[in-house]
Amino acid sequence: MFELDLETIDISTQAPAADPERQYYFIAKCREFITEEALKRGRVFTYHNETFGCQMNFKDSEKLNGVLEAIGFVPREDEKADLVLYNTCTVRENANTKVYGRIGYLGKLKKSNPDMIIAMCGCMMQEPTAVEKIKKSYHFVDLIFGTHNIFKLAELLWCVLEERRLQRIDKNQKHRMVIDVWKDTNEIIEELPSSRKYSFKAGVNIMFGCNNFCTYCIVPYVRGRERSRKPEDIINEIRNMVSQGVKEVMLLGQNVNSYGKTLDSPVSFAELLRMVDDVEGIERIRFMTSHPKDLSDDLIEVMRTSKHICRHIHLPLQSGSTRLLKAMNRHYTKEDYLKLVDKMRAAIPDIAITTDIIVGFPGETEEDFEETLTVCRDVCFDSAFTFIYSKRTGTPAAAMPDQVPEKVTSERFNRLLEVVGSCSSKRAEMLTGRTVPVLVEELDREEGLLTGRLENNLLVHFKGGEELLGSIVNVSLRECKNFYYIGEQV
Ligand code: SAH
Ligand code: SF4
Ligand code: F3S
Repeated sequence: MFELDLETIDISTQAPAADPERQYYFIAKCREFITEEALKRGRVFTYHNETFGCQMNFKDSEKLNGVLEAIGFVPREDEKADLVLYNTCTVRENANTKVYGRIGYLGKLKKSNPDMIIAMCGCMMQEPTAVEKIKKSYHFVDLIFGTHNIFKLAELLWCVLEERRLQRIDKNQKHRMVIDVWKDTNEIIEELPSSRKYSFKAGVNIMFGCNNFCTYCIVPYVRGRERSRKPEDIINEIRNMVSQGVKEVMLLGQNVNSYGKTLDSPVSFAELLRMVDDVEGIERIRFMTSHPKDLSDDLIEVMRTSKHICRHIHLPLQSGSTRLLKAMNRHYTKEDYLKLVDKMRAAIPDIAITTDIIVGFPGETEEDFEETLTVCRDVCFDSAFTFIYSKRTGTPAAAMPDQVPEKVTSERFNRLLEVVGSCSSKRAEMLTGRTVPVLVEELDREEGLLTGRLENNLLVHFKGGEELLGSIVNVSLRECKNFYYIGEQV
């Protein structure tokens, strides 16, 4: 396989050295090229971005799409596009398997459109084994970059276009991939374009990376060390969004409770929330994810007194066994978690608590698992994301003895689903009959049905028209269907 050495390709001597100016320079270069080609061919150039993974990836994709649209690419729903970008996830093994299957399909599409550009980015690309496999088995891929340099998309795309130009000049020149994966970074490049999926709600990165090294988790290896954005940059971005019609922001970080520790003048997450709460015009504030070990009393107090923070917290439990929590490097006990829940419910009685749980962590015994079930019954989560433990090479847990056989994990997994399912329905049922504010997010035109989101993150369907999209209205919850409601606007 041939790989392009980024040092040997002279992409431009005139490019500004500093970002974001450098990236705007390459956006303009790419735009010039794409506009000319589009004119020649008499059609627009399209892109398709598929996002695998969590809210961080979703947010990264909005930034990537912003750059692609600034270059002149038009979004397309399917993969028959001029440029296909996969923003990958690697948190569990099946995330990787899914991506490989899809790259194979792209190879077939490229046979009928050799000009197609295929690009891979995101967490999976931070793993050298994944990049090696793509180099070996999917040589038609044009561009690979990681999580730390997504801001460089325009520059990297320009490299791909230059490479194509060189190939046209020298027919003997073999196809070379442009690969640029960074191990880590301290840089945070602000003020690049972004294309938001919704006009009325938006994710806002408050920090990047993770320092927690939970022993099962690959995220710290693929997202690098924790670094926080400056509060003034965050607040300016939110003010801007609000002026463009955004009602709800979701503050994003792998562990928002440790926000601000690395700043020159440290600011706590609770303090940041107070600043966001004060932004004129903001109507709803959400955040995720909260690590139980760092959740402060001050945070609970801000949530209690704020007018805009949704009374919902996503607080991953992972396991109800203190022994396993220790092996997972989570830094809290079962009792700590339960106490935290009590404290939050005492302060904010109708708070919705959701969680993540892993089944089958190495060494998990029947007793450990029973403890998880007990915590789930005691807390009665509003909803829980449940995962079967997936071995991630390079993490400490992958090398631990007593990996739990699949037969045992899948049996436990089903038992867990039953417990969390019945609690979720019970919690949802409690709101039936109440009238609550919802943010109207979707419209099914054929049915004339709107979908709105409650503060607790559940959905309600009710009759209404397009004019309500993006606004917050009061809806009476007439009927509970376990995970959603049927309602009526009042
Ligand atoms: N930073 C967030 C979560 C990031 S990953 C937090 O700390 O909560 C989202 C969820 O994926 C985790 O909460 C965990 O439950 C699950 N997860 C992470 N690694 C996993 C693995 N190797 N196997 C199964 N589930 C995993
Ligand atoms: Fe992974 Fe733990 Fe960091 Fe969450 S806090 S991203 S689970 S290492
Ligand atoms: Fe996946 Fe990366 Fe998010 S591994 S869960 S996309 S941080």
